[in-house]
Amino acid sequence: MRILSGIQPSGELHLGNYFGAIEQHIRLQAEGDAYYFIADYHALTSVHDAARVRELTLDVAAHYLALGLDPKKAVFFRQSDIPEVTELTWLLSVVTGMGLLERAVSYKDKVAHGITPSVGLFTYPVLMAADIIIYKSKLVPVGQDQVQHVEMAQDMAQSFNAAFKKEVFVRPEYRLNAATAKVPGIDGQKMSKSYNNTIPIFARGKRLKKIVGQVVTDSKDYTKEPLDPDKDNVFALYSLFASEDEKKEMRDRYVNDRAFGYGHAKQHLMEKVEARFGPAADRYESLKANPSELEDVLREGGLKARAVARATLDEARSAAGLGKMLT
Ligand code: TRP
Repeated sequence: MRILSGIQPSGELHLGNYFGAIEQHIRLQAEGDAYYFIADYHALTSVHDAARVRELTLDVAAHYLALGLDPKKAVFFRQSDIPEVTELTWLLSVVTGMGLLERAVSYKDKVAHGITPSVGLFTYPVLMAADIIIYKSKLVPVGQDQVQHVEMAQDMAQSFNAAFKKEVFVRPEYRLNAATAKVPGIDGQKMSKSYNNTIPIFARGKRLKKIVGQVVTDSKDYTKEPLDPDKDNVFALYSLFASEDEKKEMRDRYVNDRAFGYGHAKQHLMEKVEARFGPAADRYESLKANPSELEDVLREGGLKARAVARATLDEARSAAGLGKMLT
């Protein structure tokens, strides 16, 4: 079973990325033929700074490898090492209605947040569909915000097959990380780099303390009245890391322990973050110090992925009446 997903190198990776996507990407590498890539073409819809794109690309690579991606199990590569996807984007765009793209929530959302839309931002879901179906992917593990894009990829695969009367593409299905509730940012909105409210995966020590210190809570006096765990961001974040028993215990302290306040809960949260990610953070530091090793992994993955992409693109070209690519 081919599993595929991509992640944009458009900012420092955070707990929302981890619990929404990365954690499940890494878990699924044992369950199928996984392809994961760093979506640098997509990042160009928001980052126009060559040095930053390069740096963030290697940074995402270091995060994945440190967090357990095994290049022997998963094919790990850079999106732009497979230029075939941009050509497939064109072939899909001629069978995709404007109306489908106009319904894209993520596009409308970005425009509503004041981003000036480029043509690339508008056709972003077509590029994403090409990413998915060029590898004949069956399963696409994503966070909630990407579900509609996978559904659009289903439509485009189907439209292409129907228009050119050939079953070139298979229908991809999305998979959400079932275990994960919403990840609040430090301001209580959904954690997202565009809201500037993130907790980076590898923040540690003083930096982590400062960020966790900013997590918004209500202003109840814990020495006088019970706290409500179900309305609290610190508890929600802690719950992502804690076992059922630990959650129960923390819940009990919120309600019944008048010597336990948000500051104490934050301390426990920090300990959880450091315990979970500390060893990976060390690996991350050493991977960052060896960019050529990262490049080697991506190059090797890219060569494998490209062979698959080429074969599919040739099928699609031929279905549409174009010749085989010259070599
Ligand atoms: N758009 C996705 C995101 O921002 C990244 C992405 C690009 C992707 N291509 C993909 C995810 C293909 C899954 C499949 O998170």
